[in-house]
Amino acid sequence: MRLLVVSLVICLCVIVQGQPKRVAIIGAGVIGTSTALAFKERDPTVDVTIFFDRDFNETTSWGPAGLFRLDNGKYRKWGHLSYQRFSQIFKEVGGVSGVQRVSGYILSKNITNLISQQINYGDYAFDFHFLRAHELEQFPYAADEIYGIHYTSFTTEGRAYVPWMYQILKKKYNTKFVKQQIKTVNELADKYDVVVNCAGLNGGIVANDGDASNVYPIRGVILEIDAPWQKNFVYLDFATFTFPTINTVFMGTVKQDGRADLEITQEDIDGIRARYAQIQPAMNNVKIKSMWSGLRPGRDQIRLEMVQSEKSKAKIIHNYGHAGNGFTVSWGCALEVVDLAFQ
Ligand SMILES: Cc1cc2nc3c(=O)[nH]c(=O)nc-3n(C[C@H](O)[C@H](O)[C@H](O)COP(=O)(O)OP(=O)(O)OC[C@H]3O[C@@H](n4cnc5c(N)ncnc54)[C@H](O)[C@@H]3O)c2cc1C
Ligand SMILES: *[C@@H]1O[C@H](CO)[C@@H](O)[C@H](O)[C@H]1NC(C)=O
Ligand SMILES: *[C@@H]1O[C@H](CO)[C@@H](O)[C@H](O)[C@H]1NC(C)=O
Repeated sequence: MRLLVVSLVICLCVIVQGQPKRVAIIGAGVIGTSTALAFKERDPTVDVTIFFDRDFNETTSWGPAGLFRLDNGKYRKWGHLSYQRFSQIFKEVGGVSGVQRVSGYILSKNITNLISQQINYGDYAFDFHFLRAHELEQFPYAADEIYGIHYTSFTTEGRAYVPWMYQILKKKYNTKFVKQQIKTVNELADKYDVVVNCAGLNGGIVANDGDASNVYPIRGVILEIDAPWQKNFVYLDFATFTFPTINTVFMGTVKQDGRADLEITQEDIDGIRARYAQIQPAMNNVKIKSMWSGLRPGRDQIRLEMVQSEKSKAKIIHNYGHAGNGFTVSWGCALEVVDLAFQ
């Protein structure tokens, strides 16, 4: 009996110890916001504060269509958890969440790249198959010139999906949002049990441990086009695409490592249009409704790890450097952060 009581007490202590009470999240892009929501869904009594240093419409997460596809097999699990989450949201909430179910195609002259996509999500994404010869005839290439896959994906359009999560965090969970620039994670380590660094392109600077030199911008541009009849995504070699979202269609893009200027040039526009028209000539003269450029937070790989604060007992968890797949892995990464925090 006494043994039972003792072990119960030990057990409880362990639970209480692993139970964070006060959590600070640096960043209110798709990564920080998903992380905050994952904490609240795990335990609504956790006190969560989100720090951000600019309006949402000035972050990288505002502009993208957020098409699910996974370029790095290391993130397979995070992709899978996110895909299940988007599917569930689409089923239970629908388009008001900013999430849209959409099928489409990825084409490539290099079949190795498509096989990697198959390995990364071909078994869990719906309707995945390699295109047969007659399906490839939809595209203006010689039969032996191109390969393709088809699958059902989800878009999580930043400007709708992230604000939808804000509303849940504010209204249902009473989460605090504080507009304040945080210099380094240590600044918050005294007041919080857990500090999560979701500062995107600034993640290395905020980490303050030498990682800043590993994080770099990858400039991207997307054009919003007037083509409401385009209902499937079409993607060539991971650089040229149209992605339909709930109310519009986006055409893109460029991937320029190390370039951080945001002005959209005529060269950007002409280049994207010309490249895309080669996949689908119907888009040759399509009208452009708006344009956007953003900086993907590049790093050789995502930094998702926990370190002990030098200053206090706080756990510091880094979650940044998601490059061109931030929406795709957002929910899986958020769940992993919460698991680390409750360890
Ligand atoms: C053109 C383009 C197309 C893309 N398409 C897709 C796609 O189809 N699918 C996909 O999965 N991904 C896509 N991406 C990638 C995706 O946009 C990013 O991976 C993702 O938005 C990164 O989110 P984040 O929350 O880490 O960063 P951000 O959205 O940049 O947010 C960073 C947050 O940190 C805060 N912050 C930064 N520094 C500080 C500080 N010192 N103190 C306080 N707060 C701070 C900022 O205020 C902000 O809230 C695309 C990107 C681009 C540019
Ligand atoms: C961004 O949002 C802020 C606050 O909501 C608004 O004042 C500002 O005009 C917006 N900026 C752009 C470029 O849309
Ligand atoms: C195809 O892509 C793979 C992986 O990206 C690369 O290693 C290979 O050289 C490419 N093959 C051709 C023919 O371009």
